Amino acid sequence: MASDVLQKIIHYHEATKHHRNRYARSAGYLDWDNQPHPFRFYHQCPMIRLPFLDPDPSLPYDDMYAPVGNSGNASLTGDAIAGFLELSLGLSAWKSQGAAKWALRMNPSSGNLHPTEAHVILPGTDVFEAGIYHYSPYYHALEQRAAIPNGFWDQSYEVFGSHGFFIGLTTVFWRESWKYGERAYRYCNLDTGHALAALAFSAALFGWHLNVLDHLSDDEVAMMLGLNKVVWRHGEGEHPDLICFVSPDHTGVHNMESLSEMITAVSTQPFSGMPNQLSGSLVHWEIIEDTAMAARKPDTPRRIGALPAALPSPASKTTKIAAAIIRQRRSAVSYDNRAIFPQDRFYSLLNRTLPSAGGAPFGGVSTGTAINLLMFIHLVEGLDQGLYYFLRDKEVLDGLRKACTPSFLWKSMSDDLPLYLLKKGDMTDTAADISCNQDIAGMSCFSMGMIADFSRILEGAPYRYRHLFREAGMVGQVLYLEAEAHGFRGTGIGCFFDDEVHRLMGLPDKGYQSLYHFTIGRPVADNRLKTLAPYHHLQNGAPEK
Ligand SMILES: Cc1cc2nc3c(=O)[nH]c(=O)nc-3n(C[C@H](O)[C@H](O)[C@H](O)COP(=O)(O)O)c2cc1C
Repeated sequence: MASDVLQKIIHYHEATKHHRNRYARSAGYLDWDNQPHPFRFYHQCPMIRLPFLDPDPSLPYDDMYAPVGNSGNASLTGDAIAGFLELSLGLSAWKSQGAAKWALRMNPSSGNLHPTEAHVILPGTDVFEAGIYHYSPYYHALEQRAAIPNGFWDQSYEVFGSHGFFIGLTTVFWRESWKYGERAYRYCNLDTGHALAALAFSAALFGWHLNVLDHLSDDEVAMMLGLNKVVWRHGEGEHPDLICFVSPDHTGVHNMESLSEMITAVSTQPFSGMPNQLSGSLVHWEIIEDTAMAARKPDTPRRIGALPAALPSPASKTTKIAAAIIRQRRSAVSYDNRAIFPQDRFYSLLNRTLPSAGGAPFGGVSTGTAINLLMFIHLVEGLDQGLYYFLRDKEVLDGLRKACTPSFLWKSMSDDLPLYLLKKGDMTDTAADISCNQDIAGMSCFSMGMIADFSRILEGAPYRYRHLFREAGMVGQVLYLEAEAHGFRGTGIGCFFDDEVHRLMGLPDKGYQSLYHFTIGRPVADNRLKTLAPYHHLQNGAPEK
């Protein structure tokens, strides 16, 4: 018998499925007067503007995935930490059309609503003093919320065996539920995954490891980031997602007790800073609050992730540096349906979605591999059109094969990669149709659903609901960058008819579930939009918060 908590989560998941004749509940219109402010600011605390990268780190794109060696602590400078933030969560451009103007960021977000916020715990450098800060992407600045307790960095060295700093992610659900209503909680967790992968890639650019402290409870993350010290406006609070330790060396957590003491010490610090008001008034989506409560993470034993070494990957043949690919990442809004994706690049891209020991972005995560890719292949060189499965976790093959429709072929397509042809045929209409009739899923070279063995994974650990979406978001971030590296473009797809996807696989029960979709092809540019530089708004001095 599933626990009450698990039942709550399954209820949320079922209630927020889109069906052809009934979409998940939302306001049904956009209340522009109460649109949440896309940027969080902390008022009444010191703000330190950060330097911009000039030049960008020169790491070639292909090297970004390679395991990082131990590089000593020389590179933990203020400039480098500022660069790490700029290339992970900073602004990438502004777009404008007529009077409307909106910012884009290095990390994508469902509806460009950006529910994810970041906080950092930094040692002192020539650019900023040691402290606990909120990162403001709008100003590329740190807002100082607290000082560091005495002895904190010595203890940190004891815990991790290396110098480093902490970065934590939080979520404001209302930013996303303003538009998407009840389904927003899923999108928030996908966005966390995108942001986490963006952090891992950016860390790799500076020769650093990013180690997600997955064993911590949400309460501990909240304490460490001082979230429990803030008086939030109703519904506008930041919910704890995760915290990472970033360092130039491979680290483990060598001393759990000292880490607990560090968290307690931070929790006794005075915090300052008043979060800005995001909306005049808001709609309270009770099911999101209830599900977030049910999916709260307790502290858990630290799992030592034994990831396989990466398979040899054909180089992506891009001569671009990694930072250039990160900066140019965008979502496509429509595709040229004649473009063909080269086969070697396709296999290279699939390979990059696999977790590998020590390599970004999955190397620092210990929550396991649960997302496999159901692929709609439209135009990939050397491959028949059809439905395919790419197994990021080969262990699931037998179970999945038994569960899916018996007529699937399961024909292995590669000696090196677990890609299987399920059935041949033109899937362009089907892919668009199940993606809430979005043409981008059918006009591209290929699209996919990200499938998890849902019930099995959540049994006994309901909080992993968040981890499944987070992993899917991380895979999405790899796909965004890989698409750019090969001269194509990707788009995340959160809107799809869940059970139509499951029916396509012949999976009638609630076992396997599709959590996120993605599409990649040759983009068609929207020439109505103007592009502006990411920080042009700061050129004549910073505008008021
Ligand atoms: C979780 C997630 C779900 C998304 N769902 C859709 C979708 O269903 N349809 C779509 O056209 N774009 C979708 N997008 C793309 C976003 O609209 C896009 O990331 C956002 O507008 C920011 O633009 P950028 O990616 O170019 O920075 C999604 C993105 C994410 C991260």
